[in-house]
Amino acid sequence: MATPSLVDGESAAASLFDGETAAREVRVFSDPDELAEAAADLVLEAAQEAIAARGAFRIALAGGSTPRRLYQKLAALAASREKGTGALSSDPSAASAMSGTETDTIPGIDAETKVRDSGASPASARFEAWHVFFGDERFVPPDHPDSNYRMAREALLDHVGIPAAQVHRIEADAGSPGEVAKRYAATISREFDLRAGELPRFDLVLLGMGADGHTASLFPGTTALDAAPGETVVCTWVEKLSAWRVTLTFEVINAARLIVFVLSGPEKLVAFGSVLHGTASLPAAKVRPADGSLVFLVEEGVLPRAAR
Ligand code: 6PG
Repeated sequence: MATPSLVDGESAAASLFDGETAAREVRVFSDPDELAEAAADLVLEAAQEAIAARGAFRIALAGGSTPRRLYQKLAALAASREKGTGALSSDPSAASAMSGTETDTIPGIDAETKVRDSGASPASARFEAWHVFFGDERFVPPDHPDSNYRMAREALLDHVGIPAAQVHRIEADAGSPGEVAKRYAATISREFDLRAGELPRFDLVLLGMGADGHTASLFPGTTALDAAPGETVVCTWVEKLSAWRVTLTFEVINAARLIVFVLSGPEKLVAFGSVLHGTASLPAAKVRPADGSLVFLVEEGVLPRAAR
């Protein structure tokens, strides 16, 4: 199925962002596989840049189900690199050709915020320089079917050479929700070598979004939305789930160099439309990088009809 062509990119951009076209970029894909391929490419690009600039790549993984395909793509790229086959070209046009379709970037986006969509070579993966964190975690053991850590381990971490000491799961099996959040905040502080009150700056924060506009475990109507300034990790009771969650705060997410939403599923259409139009009441609409880039990688069914 062809990627939707934008009837009029400019008007689509304007209608999508209500005048904030400079802040964000939306890329539309025909199906989850193309979305995952482009997301993997973007992650590798971010890794390549971070490692070149700072010698390390610090990423916060998203949970839920959508990212699984992305993580599997990353693992597959690593495997193809090992075999020396299927290397992605460093030529952007080849990369989009290899993904079998053009991706639509909505014109009218400020060039500075545009994240280069070039096919990073798998050779740039350099997983040994990756430091993996989690944007949030369910309050379950690491081998529980609902564990975000388990999903990432099965889809990616078990298949690539990231040193175990550089994988920082949220240890939801060790203590009360408050203790778990406190311990994870201490881990982040140590790993980023933070001074008191300083925020960590992730190279990349991957996010999903629920139909209710939650992201990470920042759910509507929960205390997590009102974390105190300087708080990096909080635990929160989610009434609708009757469950505890542990999550990075908005402050930490918004401090990132690059924030990438990976969205698929038509049930998110209404929420995504609100987020694009800046309906601040939805948690995902509060994700606005202080000094970074924000990219939405969206399956076409999630895009408001006006922009297809
Ligand atoms: C979680 C996630 C959460 C997720 C959304 C979307 O722990 O559930 O962090 O924010 O990204 O619920 O989930 P899907 O990708 O499964 O739709």
